Amino acid sequence: MKTRITEMLNIEHPIIQGGMHYVGFAELAAAVSNSGGLGIITGLTQKTAPDLANEIARCRDMTDKPFGVNLTFLPSVEAPDYPAYVQTIINGGVKVVETAGRNPAQVLPYLKDAGITVIHKCTSVRHSLKAQEIGCDAVSVDGFECGGHPGEDDIPNMILLPRAADELEIPFVASGGMADGRSLVAALAMGAEGMNMGTRFMVTREAPIHERVKQAIVAATELDTRLVMRPLRNTERVLTNTAVERLLEKEKKLGADIAFEDIMEEVAGVYPKVMLEGDMDAGAWSCGMVAGLINDIPTCQELIDRIMEEADGLIRQRLEGMRAA
Ligand SMILES: Cc1cc2nc3c(=O)[nH]c(=O)nc-3n(C[C@H](O)[C@H](O)[C@H](O)COP(=O)(O)O)c2cc1C
Repeated sequence: MKTRITEMLNIEHPIIQGGMHYVGFAELAAAVSNSGGLGIITGLTQKTAPDLANEIARCRDMTDKPFGVNLTFLPSVEAPDYPAYVQTIINGGVKVVETAGRNPAQVLPYLKDAGITVIHKCTSVRHSLKAQEIGCDAVSVDGFECGGHPGEDDIPNMILLPRAADELEIPFVASGGMADGRSLVAALAMGAEGMNMGTRFMVTREAPIHERVKQAIVAATELDTRLVMRPLRNTERVLTNTAVERLLEKEKKLGADIAFEDIMEEVAGVYPKVMLEGDMDAGAWSCGMVAGLINDIPTCQELIDRIMEEADGLIRQRLEGMRAA
């Protein structure tokens, strides 16, 4: 399939794997890129810039296809050394960066000067327009369904994507709730040039996370995610568990007086425990409503081939058949 995104990123299929903390290691990024999509290494999962350099080199050993690095700007306990990460990305010859969390204006000139394509992931039309205005090449429009941080506007993709299409000139991909060929065709119909998936790519054979995490997502339905940290305006969609229910109780009890310190136990340092050790109740970890559509653990190649085949069938048979009738 050829879209403005496949052309821009030099990839075969319009499918991107979004950055995911403690999931987006070189193994997954390389597997997605080798399957014709764009794999993305999560920059900040690497504790230091030299660690990221090493991860980029490992990914390059596993694929000769393009891959990207995610740089997330979110409130964190200790601010990362962003200039060092940016320099490492440039030195590593990475061609695509996915930015997220905050307007990337501070790092954009350095990335653009190095000839890097920048896709900014954001959750609203106004932030997408801002990204376009400051010179991002594309946006990833992340609807309310998404795993991770959906923002505070709560607009699902059925509305957000056509709104983005009406306003944007730069290409965009649909993100949040995407899982299969139906998602891709719907996203294209609403004006996107491809799709970005997070949760779906966690549940692949190559995702280097604990088997229990994959099984938990397979077992989950679309009813099993919760929104945490709303009172802190740092909303995160997570899979429910005992720690999440405890956190929500605290939010209810403390109301507007809640502070980050009150919920440290449920949100700080959780990812390595869940993703690497499979400690499923260690705390709150991101997961999308799309869990309800995930029932198996394919390889990335099987998943992407299946999506493209299903999309092709939908366009050629279902839609074309309806038109002809
Ligand atoms: C476990 C997990 C961790 C994530 N970590 C990050 C992150 O560090 N940075 C980021 O920009 N997005 C992160 N995301 C969001 C994804 O990149 C993507 O935008 C989102 O998962 C799309 O929604 P979906 O899960 O419905 O596909 C994360 C998502 C998940 C599920």
